[in-house]
Amino acid sequence: MEEDIDHILITEEQLRAKVRELGTQLAVDYADKMPILIGALNGATLFMSDLIRACRIPLSIDFIAVSSYASGTRSSGVVRILKDLDRNIEGRHVLVVEDIVDTGLTLSYLIENLSARKPASIRICALLDKAERRVADVPLDYAGFRIPDEFVVGYGLDYNDLYRNLPYIGVLKPQLYRS
Ligand code: IMP
Ligand code: MG
Repeated sequence: MEEDIDHILITEEQLRAKVRELGTQLAVDYADKMPILIGALNGATLFMSDLIRACRIPLSIDFIAVSSYASGTRSSGVVRILKDLDRNIEGRHVLVVEDIVDTGLTLSYLIENLSARKPASIRICALLDKAERRVADVPLDYAGFRIPDEFVVGYGLDYNDLYRNLPYIGVLKPQLYRS
């Protein structure tokens, strides 16, 4: 697995520090708001689990799965809900937790869909921001790292459902994927 990584982009230590910073900020911004954090499956699971432990306020969590990429490394433009929320978010302060925002197409669909359920507020927290690839205009209220246009894996992010369990964010050797 590790031999497929060209180089490490963000180390475990850098991830830990950034997640702590984001969690602390969220705890301030959402104190007394009892937010519901909605993790986008499967990529956001590791980020989500670390983030909530860094955010010491009353909160709840839920997960949603939307398909963005059929497989491979480029957005298909087709978005659909594969697993919906278990909870009603009407009147709740919602924070959508994403692993990475690339074109933004997935997230803009998700925000539109969740907004229709009448939450009290809705904001976005993304660990990684590939800003130069953005197509849809989505405001990232909380963002971890801005990264270049390279295909990354690890810390929840996959290529063909592999590499999610790497503890760092790494760039996959280009010869391993077709873009
Ligand atoms: P978007 O709709 O183009 O913004 O795509 C967002 C989704 O694509 C993310 O939630 C990821 O699952 C996936 N994605 C985008 N870029 C990468 C990457 O570099 N590595 C792994 N997954 C990616
Ligand atoms: Mg993915």
